[in-house]
Amino acid sequence: MWLVIAVLVLAIGFVAFLEIRGIPSYPTTTLSLKIESTPEKVANGEKIAAMLCNGCHLSTQTNKVTGRLMLDLPKEFGTIHSFNITQDKEYGIGKYSDAELVYLLRTGIKRDGSFNPVMPKFAKLSDYDIESIVSYLHSDRPEVQANNTPNVECDYSLLSKFLCLVAFKPSEYPDKPIANPDTTNLLAYGKYLCVDLYACYACHSADFKTLDYVNPEKSGGFFGGGNHLLDLEGRLVLSANITPDEETGIGNWSLERFDRALRSGLVQDGPALRYPMMPHARLSDLEVKAIYSYLKTVPKLKNKVERHLES
Ligand code: HEC
Ligand code: HEC
Repeated sequence: MWLVIAVLVLAIGFVAFLEIRGIPSYPTTTLSLKIESTPEKVANGEKIAAMLCNGCHLSTQTNKVTGRLMLDLPKEFGTIHSFNITQDKEYGIGKYSDAELVYLLRTGIKRDGSFNPVMPKFAKLSDYDIESIVSYLHSDRPEVQANNTPNVECDYSLLSKFLCLVAFKPSEYPDKPIANPDTTNLLAYGKYLCVDLYACYACHSADFKTLDYVNPEKSGGFFGGGNHLLDLEGRLVLSANITPDEETGIGNWSLERFDRALRSGLVQDGPALRYPMMPHARLSDLEVKAIYSYLKTVPKLKNKVERHLES
């Protein structure tokens, strides 16, 4: 009896602790850096953002990156809104310095020190790619121009707060410059694209809850699919197994078949791939080939994913 009460008191204490602690804060950056923008960087950043950032940040109401309600994130994480990342000084990211933006993208720590548990952390991205993203955010492209849509604060669930205590942590800021990947080494380049840049593993591993942004290969069910994702109407769509398992993954897929799925969203004998799998039409032939080559080398996982669920 006393034991039950003691356990209960501890449990209530722990919940209260999580509620009060909330989403943690960390020291802010003291970096100083100034990014030299070039037309090449802006174009590269635009391509990266189209595949990586705008899916979460673009609003169909404003046609700008003013943020939106993320109906497509599992509700167990809370009610989450992405923020206004237009150049607006008041409502957007106009107050962020270059260094603060780079620090947030690499570590997940925002300008005010609070942690962003939702976004992938880009600790291993090349300096050139990181600078390209920032140059794009500061460019004259229409979707990043200032807009005064206010942010809606995120209402994180207890589970999210708990995960921030045990699993979701900032990534280390790199201690030396990071060069662009060697594009003649297909495997290394493919890994860079799938893991460090486009974060394919975040959706294609078993579950957001067991992702390891710091050591991606340690994420539960790495590339084995089955993660519970939602489309924009909140219907369940499971991610596909894209390990080289012949039976349940893409082990038997030719490069052409893979290319069609990845860039056009078209699959053999089946309906087109559904949101949130976007056609990655901007990938170059070389990028597709590198991604394909790398995925052929990840550990095979036998995991049959039900594709078309009734909901
Ligand atoms: C999975 C969805 C998702 C992706 C992908 C994503 N973001 Fe975010 N982002 C969010 C959410 C949700 C927030 C608001 C929560 C927070 O900041 O704590 C946010 C916040 C931000 C902020 C902070 C704004 C502020 O006012 O402090 C910046 C800057 C940002 N994102 C930039 C980017 C860039 C650049 C990319 C692409 C490299 C990106 N995001 C990709 C979901 C996403
Ligand atoms: C936002 C989550 C998300 C991201 C990011 C993502 N995928 Fe997907 N992917 C999915 C979902 C969900 C499906 C299944 C769609 C369906 O069943 O209609 C899928 C399907 C696929 C398929 C088809 C597999 C099959 O068996 O039909 C391939 C190939 C694929 N993704 C490769 C990739 C690659 C490579 C990347 C990174 C460049 C990537 N995906 C990024 C969610 C994502």
